[in-house]
Amino acid sequence: MQILITAGPTREYIDDVRYLSNASSGKMGYALADAACAAGCEVILISGPVHLPVPKCVEYVAVETTVEMRDACLKHFPHCDGVIAAAAVSDYKPAQRVTGKMSKTGGPITINMIETDDVLAELGCRKSDQWIIGFALEAENARENALQKLRAKNCDFIVLNAPSAIGADDNNVELLGPDGAMQGSWQGPKREVAEQLIDWLKQTFAS
Ligand code: CTP
Repeated sequence: MQILITAGPTREYIDDVRYLSNASSGKMGYALADAACAAGCEVILISGPVHLPVPKCVEYVAVETTVEMRDACLKHFPHCDGVIAAAAVSDYKPAQRVTGKMSKTGGPITINMIETDDVLAELGCRKSDQWIIGFALEAENARENALQKLRAKNCDFIVLNAPSAIGADDNNVELLGPDGAMQGSWQGPKREVAEQLIDWLKQTFAS
């Protein structure tokens, strides 16, 4: 089984030295990549900038911006059986990237922001007989919002987790199907949660 896994944050540049990003550590995505390799899968890991060692077993693609993550995903997805989208993709980016370095103005400034491409939704539009597992990071109405994302992005399943997962060593997740039925719920160190998710995946999509 060949799996595409996205991990880590993306960065959106304001000028050539400043960017907006988020506190994702990449730990969940990297744990999934490592667990998938250990279970005998071939893994392509597309990752934003993180401070983690790259698992030796993966084909690794380093990206920085959401556009780079999108391009890498669209390139590799056709050769994969499915995708697990664990990346914390930036939702907004500055409408324009300033060349060089912006100088201080002596007063407040406003930066116009526009939405980034939704990488997962684009994969959802393009999937053939492939499966797609998204992640949903939800602060409130968690299951309802996660299911909405599953449908909007044409996922087969979605992993629901909470903002406390960002940067943490442990996670507490529920895996939901399109009808809202819970397929599994796991908690503990991210590597153990990853192992259980990959076990489930192999049983569910074994060909
Ligand atoms: N995602 C993506 N591209 C984006 C935003 C999110 O591919 N521009 C993916 C994430 O990798 C994750 C899923 O979509 O698998 C849901 O991400 P999440 O941050 O929970 O939700 P958003 O779609 O960003 O919506 P919101 O921030 O409003 O909750």
